[in-house]
Amino acid sequence: MNLYEAIYVRQSVRKFQMKPIDELTMKHIRRYIQAVSPLYDEIRWHIELLDGKAQKKTLKGPWKVEAPYYMVFYTEESRKAVRNAGFILEQLVLYLVTKGIGSCFQGGVHTTCQPDEAKGLKPVMVVAFGMGRECIERDVKEVRRMRLQDMMVAKEEIGEDMKTLLRTARLAPSAFNAQPWRFVVYHNRIHVFERKQWKWMPAIGKTKDFDIGVVLSHFVLAAEELWLQCEVQRMESISEKNMRNYEYAATIVIE
Ligand SMILES: Cc1cc2nc3c(=O)[nH]c(=O)nc-3n(C[C@H](O)[C@H](O)[C@H](O)COP(=O)(O)O)c2cc1C
Repeated sequence: MNLYEAIYVRQSVRKFQMKPIDELTMKHIRRYIQAVSPLYDEIRWHIELLDGKAQKKTLKGPWKVEAPYYMVFYTEESRKAVRNAGFILEQLVLYLVTKGIGSCFQGGVHTTCQPDEAKGLKPVMVVAFGMGRECIERDVKEVRRMRLQDMMVAKEEIGEDMKTLLRTARLAPSAFNAQPWRFVVYHNRIHVFERKQWKWMPAIGKTKDFDIGVVLSHFVLAAEELWLQCEVQRMESISEKNMRNYEYAATIVIE
């Protein structure tokens, strides 16, 4: 199974066996962290792997899932950095699926410790992971998401490759399953828009930039699977457009 295939079967896992993951697999995970592709090269980030039992007191927050391991993602303080975090961590979560390991993003959890390597960077997301006590995979038909036609607008008939990209993006996980994105498809471009602040649910507002990074990673992984040249760009002419509930985030350009 590759990362693209993992998108279609992954599900959040909230019950874990507390047994350790074997050392070779942990080595592979650490190596993958070193090799993972960021969305933006210039952003500084660092991931710390924590032993769940040893670090019980340093991780706190609502909806915390008990797991044998946690990943803490540290990065700079900017919206771009948080999107970059979503882009990187989703790839890691999918990598874990390919190794038979389950995980769950922990948007409400924060850590009180900061390793030396992460000095000056803030923890923005925690991921609980380990061997699942429940199934780590599911059938794609069981995925609860909005219908694709309700999250996108196409300016013209769209081809099979673009449809595959959009179907893959639709499966992206998001905090509270809020799916705070909409897509406008035009020719070889997919413009991604991000929901503006939800006044009645401020908790979602805190993670929606992260969610956008996650959905962008799905576009890129689908494009790689189809051997398409794909670039994530920001088009200033679109960013200036005023929209009621959504703001422009990025454009996927397919060549
Ligand atoms: C940014 C982010 C934060 C999340 N925070 C939590 C959390 O704190 N606790 C939890 O149980 N699930 C959390 N989730 C998991 C979502 O609830 C889950 O991804 C969504 O409901 C879709 O379900 P699925 O992952 O099984 O497809 C989070 C997901 C994302 C992307």
